[in-house]
Amino acid sequence: MFIEQDYTQYTAAQHRIWSDLYERRMLDLCEQGCRAYLDGAQKICLPGNRMPELAELNSYLTPLTGWQVRAVPGYIPARDFFSCLAVRQFPSTITIRNAEQFNYLPEPDIFHDVFGHVPMHAHDEFGDFLQRLGEAGRMATSEAEIRHLQNLFWFTIEFGLIQEEGHTKLYGSGLVSSPGEGRHALTNAVEKRPFKLEEVIETDFEIDHFQPLLYVIDGFDQLVSAADAFIDGLRHNRDTFAKAS
Ligand SMILES: [Fe+2]
Repeated sequence: MFIEQDYTQYTAAQHRIWSDLYERRMLDLCEQGCRAYLDGAQKICLPGNRMPELAELNSYLTPLTGWQVRAVPGYIPARDFFSCLAVRQFPSTITIRNAEQFNYLPEPDIFHDVFGHVPMHAHDEFGDFLQRLGEAGRMATSEAEIRHLQNLFWFTIEFGLIQEEGHTKLYGSGLVSSPGEGRHALTNAVEKRPFKLEEVIETDFEIDHFQPLLYVIDGFDQLVSAADAFIDGLRHNRDTFAKAS
């Protein structure tokens, strides 16, 4: 499943696309991004002027929270993905969009996976939450459990908002890595509700347009508690099923 990132294979044009994407997005994120994201990008020395080298990022990230980025060729099955998260390994694509796809790419590339996700993994509580989602992914078996987990992942890891010092800020990777949706998420066009686990897991989403509804947390400790409660629910389902059979 894992591959090697041959850093020497990247062309000058690819390094330039990364640095153009980085420059455009980071400027806005100084205003829009949450503190944990901005601190995380500094802690892992996320490069702005060239493509990131995963081994180099890991040399900063792993001593902090135990997380490691591992290169994968593309989409991997959900069960494998969650199994990686459960052992603090984050699968990342290593290809980058071309110039024609600069503004929009339907599938994740290294800019989404590394720029959007990885800085948050340097945050203790966020890292704990992500690992717990991995554990939940290994436990979820029924259609309903898997749907609930997908919804929880979507409205936090991918599209989460946090309230910080009276302002709503971005922490979800889909918002952090997208100038258009990141900006839109902070406008009144998007309904924002306080994060409640029972509601979030029942809220389905569509991926082909900007999200009309997003959930706001007060702090990352809230996510860790939510993941614990979610895992307790999965265990309860197991026990109930075991007793009934
Ligand atoms: Fe993502």
